[in-house]
Amino acid sequence: MARTFWVGGNWKMNGTTAAIKELVAAFNGADAAAGVEVVVGAPYVYIPLVADSLRKDWAVAGENCYVKASGAYTGEISPEMLKDVGAAWVILGHSERRNIIGEGDQFVAEKTVKALEAGLKVVLCVGELLEEREAGTTQAVVDRQLDAVVKAVGPADWANIVIAYEPVWAIGTGVVATPEQAQEVHAAIRKYLATAVSADVAAATRITYGGSVNGKNCGDLAQKPDIDGFLVGGASLKPEFIDIVNAQQ
Ligand code: G3P
Repeated sequence: MARTFWVGGNWKMNGTTAAIKELVAAFNGADAAAGVEVVVGAPYVYIPLVADSLRKDWAVAGENCYVKASGAYTGEISPEMLKDVGAAWVILGHSERRNIIGEGDQFVAEKTVKALEAGLKVVLCVGELLEEREAGTTQAVVDRQLDAVVKAVGPADWANIVIAYEPVWAIGTGVVATPEQAQEVHAAIRKYLATAVSADVAAATRITYGGSVNGKNCGDLAQKPDIDGFLVGGASLKPEFIDIVNAQQ
């Protein structure tokens, strides 16, 4: 089954109004490959600006959300609010939220359910810490993170979920996983989906890679059969992001 190549930017807690206007103008003027699904994840406060000004063939993502639609949850943002201000996607379970903020698998699964119910598509991030890789538990960790979501959503929901495999040791470190390392985990995730959900879902779900992806290393990664795109941090804050969008060319 042909899977549409998917590239997301995750700006994390970066940007100013001026810098974002400049970056969006660069993206809008760039020659991006047709047939690639592109999503830009922006800090909450900049989503309306990005949604209004970004090229219309690309979509906007929130970088997190809460599990309630509204109410007395000071400082939180609901999936419905993200949708209201122009986001079509939300990034959930990012390792920085799991490991710095302390979000657990169940909470990420609950957020996934609520985001999907609100009509958002979900970028579901999974990935192991360096010590987990060194202990040989990479697949067990990733399966455990996925299990919580598999149990919480229905098979049809996977049409609206993109998985981002982001080994924590590769995030922001400049140490990108080799194409072989990434392919091995991606293939295992696809196998896991076939068993835990269905063969059809396994064949159709985009499994993207994140962690020190740049304009130079994306081409080799993109050639691997189970790497269906990228979730990009640092390089998504630069015009270089276009080279990653065009990785398959
Ligand atoms: O979500 C993207 C990410 O965590 C990877 O960040 O800066 O290593 O591309 P970076």
